[in-house]
Formats: sequence, structure tokens, C-alpha cells
Amino acid sequence: MGIEVVLGDITTEQVDAIVTAANESLLGGGGVDGAIHRAAGPRLAEAGAKLAPCEPGQAVATPAFGLSPVKYVIHTVGPVWEGGEHGEDEVLTNCYLNSLRLAADLDVGSIAFPAIATGIYGFPAQRAARVAVRAVRSLPVVDRIRLVAFDEETRHALTAELAEPA
Ligand code: APR
Repeated sequence: MGIEVVLGDITTEQVDAIVTAANESLLGGGGVDGAIHRAAGPRLAEAGAKLAPCEPGQAVATPAFGLSPVKYVIHTVGPVWEGGEHGEDEVLTNCYLNSLRLAADLDVGSIAFPAIATGIYGFPAQRAARVAVRAVRSLPVVDRIRLVAFDEETRHALTAELAEPA
């Protein structure tokens, strides 16, 4: 199993599954969710609506539609940051673990994650990077894992966490 940190637009990732940082309606929104829905097309929201609501920490899979050759979009809902004492770390950990479990069930060989919850939901980048790296290291069920940063601060945070011994 390999874990890589990359800087870029997740909608250009050539992987089997792309994870989106969704909201409970699964209808799309701003940020990375908006970019993925724009790239996948309106069928993504139609498919998501049939599976909604998705609770924070849970994950559901749909086809990737216009994002082909990507096979699946895995929708997961991160925690809204409320200061760090309201179980946010646990919910964010579950986002990564439940997405990986779902990917393994779907026989996915490669998966790309955005920095879930660190944008509109306000989760601090460094703490989220630590949660993300610990979570994906704890469940080696997908061969290739790409942690996609959209900005330099996130890339640096993820790279630093990945440099820490497991
Ligand atoms: N590729 C990769 N990462 C991206 C992209 C992109 N094209 N666009 C944004 N990001 C990054 C952001 O810079 C941030 O680091 O994704 C991370 C997550 O930020 P958000 O997309 O704001 O997600 P989140 O904080 O989980 O908030 C989710 O926002 O878009 C709505 O419907 C979504 O209500 C939900 C909420």
C-alpha cells in the first residue's frame, strides 16, 4: 500500500475512486464538492439524492458518471469544526475509514482524498492532516492512496504528517 501527497485539482486524478467532502443532502455544494459535481455532471446529484441523508462520518458510493475513467465517487460528510472538543477528530477519522472500507468492498485499487472538512467546515489543516494520515495508515485496504492538497499549506501539513514514523 502506498500513500502519496499531491498538490492539485482532485477532478483530474486518474484513480478508481475519488472522495468528495459532501454535505448530508449529497446534492453538491461549493468547494471540492462543487468541483466534483461540475465534472461528474448532474447525474451525480441525482444518484446522491437517492442515498441521502448521509450522516457526518458516514460514506456512500455512486458511479462517477462524467468523471470517467474514474469508476466511483465516494461521498463522505466531514464534521463542522466547533473548537475540537465535540468529537470532530473521531468523525473525521470515520470519514476516512468508512470511505476506505467502502472502496475495499468495491475492489478499488486506487483512491484520491481531498482534505475533508478543512475548507467551509473550518477544521484546522494541520490537525486534519494528522487525523487523515493516522486513519489511512490504520486501514491498509486500498493499494494506492493519494491525499490531494489544493493549496500549499495543506500540502505541507500532509507531507509533514506522512514524514512522521507510523
Ligand atoms: N481539488 C482538491 N481539493 C479541493 C478542490 C479541488 N478541486 N477544491 C477545494 N478543495 C479543497 C479545499 O481547499 C479544502 O482544503 O478541499 C478541502 C475541503 O474543503 P471544502 O470543499 O470546503 O469541504 P469541507 O470543508 O468539508 O466543507 C464541506 O462545503 O462544498 C460544501 O457541500 C459541501 O456543505 C459541504 C461543505
